[in-house]
This record gives sequence, C-alpha cells and structure tokens, in this order.
Amino acid sequence: MAGRIPQSFIDDLLSRVDIVDVISSRITLKKAGKDHQGLCPFHNEKTPSFTVSEEKQFYHCFGCGESGTAVTFLMEHDRLEFVEAIESLALLAGIQVPREEETSGRQETKDLLDVLMASSSYFRSNLKNSREAVEYLKARGITGITARDFGIGYAPNEWHGLEDALTQSPSSIDQKKLLDAGLLTKNDKGKVYDRFRGRIMFPIRDNRGRILGYGGRVFGDMDGPKYLNSPETATFRKSFEVYGLYEARKSHRNIEQLILVEGYMDVIGLSQHGITNVAATLGTAATTEHFKKLYRYTKEVVCCFDGDAAGRKAAWRAMDNALAELKDGRQLKFMFLPDGEDPDSLVRKEKAAGFKTRLQNAQPAVEYLFGQLASDLDLQALDGQAKLVSLMVPYIKKLPESILKQLFIKRLYDLTGYNFSGVKETKNPQPYQKKKIQKPRLPVLEKRLVAFLLKDHSLINGLQEEIREELIDPKYNGFLESIVRYLVNNPGIRNEEIQERWTGEDYEDDIVELLSWQFSISAEALEAEFVEGINRFVSMRDTSERRTLLDNLKEDPTSENLRIYWAKKKGANPKQ
Ligand code: UTP
Ligand code: MN
Repeated sequence: MAGRIPQSFIDDLLSRVDIVDVISSRITLKKAGKDHQGLCPFHNEKTPSFTVSEEKQFYHCFGCGESGTAVTFLMEHDRLEFVEAIESLALLAGIQVPREEETSGRQETKDLLDVLMASSSYFRSNLKNSREAVEYLKARGITGITARDFGIGYAPNEWHGLEDALTQSPSSIDQKKLLDAGLLTKNDKGKVYDRFRGRIMFPIRDNRGRILGYGGRVFGDMDGPKYLNSPETATFRKSFEVYGLYEARKSHRNIEQLILVEGYMDVIGLSQHGITNVAATLGTAATTEHFKKLYRYTKEVVCCFDGDAAGRKAAWRAMDNALAELKDGRQLKFMFLPDGEDPDSLVRKEKAAGFKTRLQNAQPAVEYLFGQLASDLDLQALDGQAKLVSLMVPYIKKLPESILKQLFIKRLYDLTGYNFSGVKETKNPQPYQKKKIQKPRLPVLEKRLVAFLLKDHSLINGLQEEIREELIDPKYNGFLESIVRYLVNNPGIRNEEIQERWTGEDYEDDIVELLSWQFSISAEALEAEFVEGINRFVSMRDTSERRTLLDNLKEDPTSENLRIYWAKKKGANPKQ
C-alpha cells in the first residue's frame, strides 16, 4: 500500500481538471445558459434535471438531489474509492500522484493484510481437501461457485496447522504477525496455537476485497461456540465492518436496495438464490457506523430480522442507530420473518420469489416507529397523545434535517396536534444565562392580528382555506401561527383556556397585554383589516424565508440548500 496523497496535491489537482470534461466524457451534456445539462446518471429520468456548473465546479440534480465535485462524481458514477478517483483525475490531467512517506502504523496494517491474504489461500486450499467440510456446505445448499465467490475456506482441526503452514517457507511469516492478525491465540500459560480449528471460514472483506478478519463456524460434532470471530485487531473492528458488502458491490453496479440481515449464512443463503444485495452485521447490533457505511453504497436499507423477541429488539436498536444517517434521499425499512425462520431458511422454503414478496411489504421506518410507540396508547385521549409526544420527540431529534424528518413531524402533528419546533437546544445552558434569555419581541403586525383574534375567534373562519392552511403549516411555530392553530383545533375554546395553555411559555405576558387591547373600529373594518393583515403576514414570512435561504446558500452551497432554494423559488413546496 502506498503512502498518503498530500492534501495540497488534491487541491491543486481539482483546480486543474474541469468537471465538465470529466462528466461529459461519461454522459451527454448540453450547454444551458452558464451551465451544462443532461440526463441524470443517478436516477431514471426523461427530461434533464442534472446540471453541471463550470463556474462552481459542482454538479447537482434537481430530480434526485445528488450533487458534488469531480471527485464525488467519479466515486458515485464509476464506483471508485476516493484514492482511485484521485488517480483517475490525475491521469486525465497528465500528472503523477505523489505519495507521502509510509508511516510505521501504515506499514503494520499492510503487513497484517498480507498475512490475512496468505491465511485465506491456506483455508481455501484446505476446503478442497476436506470432504466433511464440503459435504456440510453442500448439505446446506451451497454450491462451489458460491463458496468461491465468498472465498469460503476451512480451518482443519489442528493446533498448529495454520501456524506451521505460514511460518515455514516460502511464506516465512513471523509468529508475532499471525498473533497480531488474530489468527493465532495465546493461552494463560503462554502457549500459542491456531485460533480457528475445525471450522468453516468466512472471510470478512473490506470494499476493496481485502480480508480484514474471519468468522468461523463449527459443524459436525465439534464443540465450542457456533461462530468464532476474529478478535478486534488493527484491521478489524466489528462495530464498523459488515459481511457481504464487497460481494454485493461486485454483483451490482448500483445497489438500489440493500438488505441487512443478522447472519453470515443468511447472506450466503440469499445469494445462493440470486438475491445478492445483502449484507450482515457481525453478531453485534447494527451501529450508526454500520449505517454510515451501507448508505455510502445504497439509498435504501431494509433491515431483515427474526420476528422473535430478540429480533425485534435488534431491529429497534438498529432503527435508533440509523436515524442520524437518514439524510435526504435515504430510506430505511423493516421486515420481520415468521418465528423460527431466518432469511437463509426462509429463502430455501419460499424461494427467491417468496422472499421478494415479503421484501415488497417491508415497513418504512416512519410506520414502524409510530406503530411501535403508539401500539399501547389511546390516541383519542389527551394523555395518550401527550405520551406519544414524549416518546416520539427524542427520536425526531436524532434525525438530520430532511424531508423524512418533516414527515415524522407531520405524522406526530396529525396524531397529536403537537408541533415539533426542531429548535436546536444549546448544550448545557448556564443557569444564569437561562434567566437572562429575553422573550422574543413581537412585531406590531403580529400583535395586532393576535389581539383581533382574541377579541373574535370566529375571524379565522373569514380566511380563505388555502391561506389558513399555509399560515399554520406545521413547520411554523410563531406566536400567531400557534394561536391560529390552537383555535382551529379547539373550536369553542375560551380566552381563559388560551391564557392557561400559554402559562409559563413565551408570549404569556403578550397574551395578557393583548387581551386588554381595545379597538374603536367597526366589526366589518376589523375583519377586513384582519384578512388583509394575515395575507401580508404570510407574504412577508415567505419573503424573509427566501432571503434566509439565499443567505444559507451563499454561506453553505450544499445541495440541500440549493434544492430547497430552487423549490421555493419555483413556487413549489419543497416537501413534496
Ligand atoms: P445465527 O445463529 O442466526 O447465525 O447468528 P446463522 O448465520 O443463521 O448461522 P447458521 O445458519 O446457524 O449457520 C447470527 C450471527 O451472530 C453471530 C454471527 O455473526 C452469526 O452469523 N454469532 C452467532 C456469533 O458471533 N457467535 C455465535 O456463537 C453465534
Ligand atoms: Mn441460519
């Protein structure tokens, strides 16, 4: 493995290549104004919404939201690793990629990877020579081709099989390196021997196909734990790695959907039936790191778990850990299998077609989450609604800003009338600061409109339906919006109850003040002013929002901000 590529080189390289050259050599682009346009290579479309900006050296698809630089384009489009993408750009620019000096840590990792690669040849050649191991795999329906694709091997039942084979020439690997790679183990008395004995060996590979560690399964009448995994080493971290992703990527240029299962044999069993978009965690809960990795290669993860208590618990934890990764365009679903089945056993029974039917019925995360949390609650009752809010809010907080988050918020609002503000909390607020926090000052227009409303609740009925809906769109939480929403949801409510509802909250004092306002105008004039005032309020809110979006965009030209801005500018609702 070569040393690191210096950052200064990467910056220089990016300033030399033109993103338009890179992309137009792969898809057809037409000039459109300052920019170039074409059919988006990342989703199916008939009219071009994929835009490449020469000026910004940035691409963006208004259809699917993909965006990035020349490097990310190569990574996504050509399915390259970062380093490969840089190398490919350097080739285009006709320059050589310089490398920094190897550090000792990197050399060590390289050595471990070499050792692991050598061990794999040993295990695979032993599989060929072991009739029982081959019989076992065959009995489980695994063909030679699948075994080859997954690099399955066999560790013979010997104390020093691997050690002898690899420490002697021609490999001549140090015993210490085999220990560091987790292939040998040492007992209390200092005796060193093969860690894996009498086991079918499943290599766990990274996305370049390099072996990082193993899972080894006992079979026949051997004892010991069913699976033994490599220990945590310099190359192998269980809570980061997944099994089968490398193989899945080899079978699919684009992984539309990835099925996340629990076991090695589930990945292999499904693959044997032609379902090759599968990966598994390594006997641990699915972590945020796992999801981070999976979503680099797919937009949709379907967690497929056993329907028993343990499987449901695992699914819940997986969901909790996935939330932070559910950025726009990403999907998470859940499917549960009948009791006593795992994906491997089920696909053998129901074949690929049966499994795929179940897959189509997988439940989206939002359904799953609400279904679980609301299952024992009476949502017709206020305390049931309040309970749901308290259960749901912590999960919503974990979601990054996204359309999905808006969906969660809307669902919670529909069920409970509670409007999640999504206002970021400051960490560890100092008590004295808290006291000093000023209540927001209300603009005169807003005050006047609320004062009108408190005088005559029926004013809301004089508003056009559209305007009223726009006014109280769940994403707004201002004072006026909250009051109108409250009146809409609680017809016939009295001012005392409104006052009580806002006790202890912002605007408590404003309500008291506004209740005392007197108007010396006719009822008709008041209504006319109210309707006109609300229209003005909504239009001002819109303008200020657009201005903020534009400011955000200037400061942080990410695809998300760009998309929202465009959606708003076109007059479309970005939530759809
Ligand atoms: P399972 O017991 O469901 O594995 O454990 P499986 O893949 O279906 O195995 P077969 O079909 O019996 O051969 C799920 C996963 O939990 C981890 C492994 O990663 C396994 O694939 N596990 C299980 C262990 O690490 N150790 C064990 O002893 C058992
Ligand atoms: Mn199984």
